[in-house]
Amino acid sequence: METRVVAGNVTEIQADAVVVNLLEGMERPDGAAAAVDKVLDGAISSLISRGEARGKFEEISVVHTFGKLPARIVAVVGLGKREDLDVDKIRRMTGQFCRALRKLNCRRVATIVHGSGVGGIGLEASAEAVTEGAVLGLYRFTKYKRPDYDDIEEMLIVAKEREEVATIEPAVRKAKTVALATNLARDMVNEPANYMTPSRMAEIAMELAGKYDLKFKVFDREDMETMGMGALLGVARGSNQPPKLITLTYKGDEHSEQGLGFLGKGITFDSGGISIKPSEGMEDMKADMAGAAAVMTALVAIGQLKPKINVTGIIPATENLPSGTALKPGDILKAMNGKTIEVISTDAEGRLILADALSYAVKQGLSPLIDLATLTGACRVALGLLYSGAFGNDQNLVDKVLKAAQRTGERMWQMPMPEEYKEHIKSDVADIKNTGDRYGGAISAALFLAEFVDNTPWVHLDIAGPRLSTKESGYMVKGATGFGVRTLVELALNEASSREAI
Ligand code: BES
Ligand code: MN
Ligand code: ZN
Repeated sequence: METRVVAGNVTEIQADAVVVNLLEGMERPDGAAAAVDKVLDGAISSLISRGEARGKFEEISVVHTFGKLPARIVAVVGLGKREDLDVDKIRRMTGQFCRALRKLNCRRVATIVHGSGVGGIGLEASAEAVTEGAVLGLYRFTKYKRPDYDDIEEMLIVAKEREEVATIEPAVRKAKTVALATNLARDMVNEPANYMTPSRMAEIAMELAGKYDLKFKVFDREDMETMGMGALLGVARGSNQPPKLITLTYKGDEHSEQGLGFLGKGITFDSGGISIKPSEGMEDMKADMAGAAAVMTALVAIGQLKPKINVTGIIPATENLPSGTALKPGDILKAMNGKTIEVISTDAEGRLILADALSYAVKQGLSPLIDLATLTGACRVALGLLYSGAFGNDQNLVDKVLKAAQRTGERMWQMPMPEEYKEHIKSDVADIKNTGDRYGGAISAALFLAEFVDNTPWVHLDIAGPRLSTKESGYMVKGATGFGVRTLVELALNEASSREAI
């Protein structure tokens, strides 16, 4: 889909549909809606007076123009109550109306910059939200099935004044870059595990590195043996697919050796291994590389936005399968940092591969570290499917991540890491064991990871809940969400600008 910023009056724009809005409780249309209403001889006013359009959030009323306007359709979308409007709501309703107009066979859609000026929301923030909402909300995974409706080909974002175009254009460009990177992560996660193997992930990383000027490295089984990555190798033992440790580096600050480290769990299929999972719903375990996909595509966006900072993405990738050579409960593994791990459940494999990835990141001197992992069912139980759990050893960093997440609309909730629970992962025969108590499973997993970060400031995001969406809603569609990409990018941009300010 093309996006174009134009200045003008929506009543004069050539498009299949023009989109204006209505706040809840308004007795007559306002702004662009009022201009359209006039040309349509009061059609919108009459919708309001009859109680057909009430401005409820995400309500969509469609009016056919029958030649009174160049556009075939005028869509009036509800913004909800003025005091409740925020940037994420603009994103959500844009996703919603874009899909509705696609179903109405629209190829070219013109929209105003919804919500700007309402409740302190600025023009740039609104333009960014509209663009993200459109690009994310229209996403479909079409590789294996033809979609029911044709694509919207062009989105016109209509500014009121000519001078506004210069403000809106860069915001739209940035939003589009980030949203397309998110959609790329969605594609990777939606791919089945018979396609998205660790080797394929490495191939994709290499291609992306070439395209976006990133440094690419991949470590194979032999390299992992040399580096002492016994935990990652242990998980990989059950599979015929060779494991890969992939790194992608963006160098935006040539004068610095330091860099942020983003890590993503890359289990391309999690059967549980010998501690095998129940078969019901196991197909969703192709999405156990959602953290890896988010890290990879965040680097793609960062490579295009070019902040003055260095970022390295680290992705341990393997399948988790049972076989005659597979890891067994009771096995003891030695991670790269020298710690020994008693394996209680082979299904607690994410923390094993991250143990080596985190050790490697620490050894590389990367700081701070952020990991994204579909780590525990317990986190889904605790927070539901919208929230990721946020854990960390440095409150300042946790706050920065939560602040970035707030801006992107990706919902995160801080979880505690009490010392006392460390007892749950004490082993009689090794330094640590890989599962904890029946209760607080997301926390014992985080405490396990903490054993491999030394004193490096680190945040762990357990994205087991929000990695997939069970329904179409707002800018989410069924399937992979691309959760985490936007917050990682936001964080890198924020870090770059706050460091430059010093
Ligand atoms: N990948 C799963 C966690 C998961 C579960 C993600 C459901 C998304 C949806 C992880 O590897 C796992 O199996 N965790 C176990 C840990 C347990 C054995 C301590 C779990 O949560 O059951
Ligand atoms: Mn598992
Ligand atoms: Zn897993």
